[in-house]
Amino acid sequence: MLNIKIEKTTTPKEKPAKGQKLGFGKIFTDHMFVMDYTEGQGWHDARIVPFQDLVMSPAAMVFHYGQEMFEGLKAYKGVDGKVRLFRPDMNAKRTNDTNDRLCIPQLPVEDFVEAVKAVVKVDEDWIPTEDGTSLYIRPFIIATDEFLGVAPSKTYKFIIILAPSGAYYESGLAPVGIWIEDEYVRAVKGGMGFAKTGGNYAASLIAQVKAHDDGYSQVLWLDGVERKYIEEVGAMNIFFKIDGKIVTPMLNGSILPGVTRNSVIALCKKMGYEVEERRISAQELIEAQKSGKLEECFGTGTAAVISPVGKLRYVDDVMIINNNEIGEVSQKLYDTLTGIQWGKREDDMGWTVEV
Ligand code: COI
Repeated sequence: MLNIKIEKTTTPKEKPAKGQKLGFGKIFTDHMFVMDYTEGQGWHDARIVPFQDLVMSPAAMVFHYGQEMFEGLKAYKGVDGKVRLFRPDMNAKRTNDTNDRLCIPQLPVEDFVEAVKAVVKVDEDWIPTEDGTSLYIRPFIIATDEFLGVAPSKTYKFIIILAPSGAYYESGLAPVGIWIEDEYVRAVKGGMGFAKTGGNYAASLIAQVKAHDDGYSQVLWLDGVERKYIEEVGAMNIFFKIDGKIVTPMLNGSILPGVTRNSVIALCKKMGYEVEERRISAQELIEAQKSGKLEECFGTGTAAVISPVGKLRYVDDVMIINNNEIGEVSQKLYDTLTGIQWGKREDDMGWTVEV
């Protein structure tokens, strides 16, 4: 058990007004969780303090070589007034997979979950209740040694901040257009693609800017070796319905193992769909679309939830999917997942954790 010291703010901020458009990740609550790591001592000094700027040496290693990780999960205020987290143990386990890859020390799963629960509890009144909103939770770890040599840091900070948020995409549940990237690559097997670390996202920006300039919301990455096979979108995993089957790229070391991805596979199986985790080439999608078999496409992610894709561009082909409308599977998954998260549906998978 962490012995968390709590220092409450004496100058609470004004909370967003009812009905105010929250956007995503723009507003932050009154408090944050902080814990330090020192080699030889382990994780220590767990505390909840007023949300504040960090004072750090400009020589801190995170600024130079990017030794950092982050996670994303949400707290929901249910229709019954209870506050729920969705599968936080999966975020905790993925934290440690990322930490291993980046030579960051392990963080006990139970400490991660306890810290998330504690800070959410303190800022519980910040959880928005309008449809489609939630409290986005951003845990992250940064390397803090003052040192310009390339080596793993011996000190770290684990911090959790909270952002009352609405839909990740401004369009909400309306289908988005996605650009299948054929010039840049995001990750290769043996690299960091499976890890949740800032470098992967920094590497994605150039293609995202290009896609935005062309009127697309996000980039869909191809594998970095053959540049043929679909991997993931910038902020979500990707699913297709092809000829009645649900198909998603298999985890291969360069794809993020999404919590929502894992949950959607389980829900689709439960709904009676055949689910295939396998390689899918961009060419297969083009052919499936031409023969009328590409029935649906949607992204999955904590921030994005279920995000229908209505348009896919690959070099000279532009595929319009399901008439650019929300598909039946996407809608069913959105309703089921958010129903469980907001306590409107029975959680028979045992996925939610009360705070
Ligand atoms: C999430 O879905 O929680 C993520 O971390 C994606 C992020 C890039 C917005």
